[in-house]
Amino acid sequence: MAREVKIITTEDGSHSLFVPELNESYHSFHGAYRESIHVFMLYGLETWFTRNPERYPIRIFEVGFGTGLNAWLSLVWAEQFKVPVLYHTIEPFPLEKEIYSKLNYTEVDTSIYHYASYFNRLHTAPWNEGSVISEYFNMKKDLITLEEAVLYPTDIIFYDAFAPNKQPELWTKEMLAKVTDTMNPGAIFATYCATGQLKRDLKDLGLEVETLPGPPGKKEMVRGVKGRMRDEG
Ligand SMILES: C[S@@+](CC[C@H](N)C(=O)[O-])C[C@H]1O[C@@H](n2cnc3c(N)ncnc32)[C@H](O)[C@@H]1O
Repeated sequence: MAREVKIITTEDGSHSLFVPELNESYHSFHGAYRESIHVFMLYGLETWFTRNPERYPIRIFEVGFGTGLNAWLSLVWAEQFKVPVLYHTIEPFPLEKEIYSKLNYTEVDTSIYHYASYFNRLHTAPWNEGSVISEYFNMKKDLITLEEAVLYPTDIIFYDAFAPNKQPELWTKEMLAKVTDTMNPGAIFATYCATGQLKRDLKDLGLEVETLPGPPGKKEMVRGVKGRMRDEG
């Protein structure tokens, strides 16, 4: 399925996509790149690694591959730290080459520009099968909705669906349960969303829920942890 999207530039200079049909963008207008670093890298992957430095490969599941920004930043992290990452992601609306080839994420931070070619590889990797993308990063990218997807045991969830008011079916307690049921002990659920309903649902589903400072321009975000937290981070 293809859907009309328009490239926009967010406040930190990085691109995002706007979907006219939903009147919604893929990322925060205050900065797509900064949001991804803050919500998913800092409070997701890096927190997991600080708390569980011996547990790898790290299994990440992402809802919505989209631009591939979270996948690429995770790949860069895996290569820099030399820690194997198994990345499972799903996407029912893959982007055309005409769109993803114009995205400027690999130009934001010149210190990691040498990983730029992997961005393209993430997009050209085949759907519905596992691919070795780089030495420390394997990915399985499924062309499917969350409703239909088969999920695997996971250490970190990047819950990056469109906002609850735009796509409520991805934020029901049943849908969240489908995802949180896959979480290993200590696993992290990270999302930019911070609604009271989400926090209540994640608590009901057995997670310890933290409200953390959001990325620039957003007051809060949410992180849930399965089981006991080992330390702060
Ligand atoms: C907020 S965007 C984030 C995308 C991506 N993580 C990124 O950083 O570019 C939400 C993504 O979820 C995808 N999506 C839409 N409906 C979905 C569904 N039912 N199941 C899974 N993903 C869906 C959209 O196509 C879009 O790529």
